[in-house]
Amino acid sequence: MIHTRICDLLGIPHPIVLGGMGTATTAPLVAAVSNAGGFGTLGTSAFNAATLDSEIGAIRERTDKPYGVNHLLFQIKEDMFAVTLRAQPAVAAFAWARKDQNLRDYFQRAHDAGCKVMYMANEVPEAARAAEAGADVLVAQGTEAGGHVGWMASLPLVPMMVKALAPIPVLSAGGIADGRGLAAALALGADGVLLGTRFMATPEAPIHANFKQAIVKTDGHDTVLTEIPDLASQRVWPGAMSRAQRNRFIECWAGREWALRQNASEVGKQVAAARAAGDIDNAPLSFGQDAGLIDAIKSVKEVVQEIVAEAEGIIKDRLQSLLR
Ligand SMILES: Cc1cc2nc3c(=O)[nH]c(=O)nc-3n(C[C@H](O)[C@H](O)[C@H](O)COP(=O)(O)O)c2cc1C
Repeated sequence: MIHTRICDLLGIPHPIVLGGMGTATTAPLVAAVSNAGGFGTLGTSAFNAATLDSEIGAIRERTDKPYGVNHLLFQIKEDMFAVTLRAQPAVAAFAWARKDQNLRDYFQRAHDAGCKVMYMANEVPEAARAAEAGADVLVAQGTEAGGHVGWMASLPLVPMMVKALAPIPVLSAGGIADGRGLAAALALGADGVLLGTRFMATPEAPIHANFKQAIVKTDGHDTVLTEIPDLASQRVWPGAMSRAQRNRFIECWAGREWALRQNASEVGKQVAAARAAGDIDNAPLSFGQDAGLIDAIKSVKEVVQEIVAEAEGIIKDRLQSLLR
C-alpha cells in the first residue's frame, strides 16, 4: 500500500485528493471521494452562505470521513468563510489570492477553527508566500490542469516546489488521471496528487452527462488557454487563464474579445442556458489535458482503487525491474 505523509496529515488511506471545483463539486462527489479512501474537497464559488451551509450538511450526512472546503481567495465572501469555519472541516483549501491580500489572516482563522490549511499555487514564489503565511500543504498546479491555471508545467514545477519549500508536503495537480500519474508525482517528490478532470467523468459528479461524455471522447489535444469564459462571466481572475476545449463557443469569440466585452451580459445569459441544457458546443467546457487519458465514466470508488493499484504495480514491478 502506498503511504505518504499526506495520509497521516489528512487521516486518509490513499494520497489522492479531489480538487474543490467551483461548478463541478457537490456533496455526493466530495463524500464519495472521502468514502473511497481519498480526500474530497468542496468548491464554493457556485454557492451562497445558506446553500454552502446545507451542502456541507449534506456531506456530513453521507460520510464521517475527513473532507475539505475550498475558497477562491480573490473573491472570498466573509459570510461564506464564516460558514466554513463554523463547520470545522479537516482542511480549509485556498487558491488564487490577489497580491494585496493578507494570507496569514485567513490561514490563522482556519487554524483557530481546527482546520489544516492547503494552498494551491502555480509558481514557486506564490507557494513560498503561502508557506510563510503558515500553509500546512501546498498544491503545485501545472498548466496542463483543467480550470484556471498558470504557465508552468508540472514536471519542473513539482520538484522545484518540493525542494524550495521542504519539509511542507506538496500535492501534484494537473494532468493526472491514473496510476502512472500518481507514481510519477511521487517520483518527483510529491506526497500525493490532487485531481479534477478524472473525477468529473464519474456518475457522482454534478456536471451534465454531455460534458462527461465530452471528456471521455476527447483525445486531450483540443484545449486552449483562454480568457473567453471569464469575459463571458464578467469575472476577472488575478493572473489566470482558463483551460477550455476549443469548441464552437471559443472559436466564435477568439480574436474578438473586444466584442465579447461589449456583449458580455447577453452572452453570459446564453452561456448559462447552454450549460444547463448540456450544449457542449455553446458553453465553455473546462477540463485538463489528461482528459486524453480518460476513456470511460467510472465510479469514484473504481477510479480511486484503479489509481492506487496501478501506481503500486508500477513501483513494485516496472520500476524495480529496471534496477541492475
Ligand atoms: C471545472 C473546474 C473548476 C475548478 N474550480 C476550482 C476552484 O473553484 N478552486 C480551485 O482551487 N481549483 C479549481 N479547479 C482546479 C482543480 O482544483 C485542479 O487544480 C485541477 O482540476 C487539476 O487538474 P486536472 O483537471 O488535470 O486533474 C477547477 C478545475 C476544473 C476543471
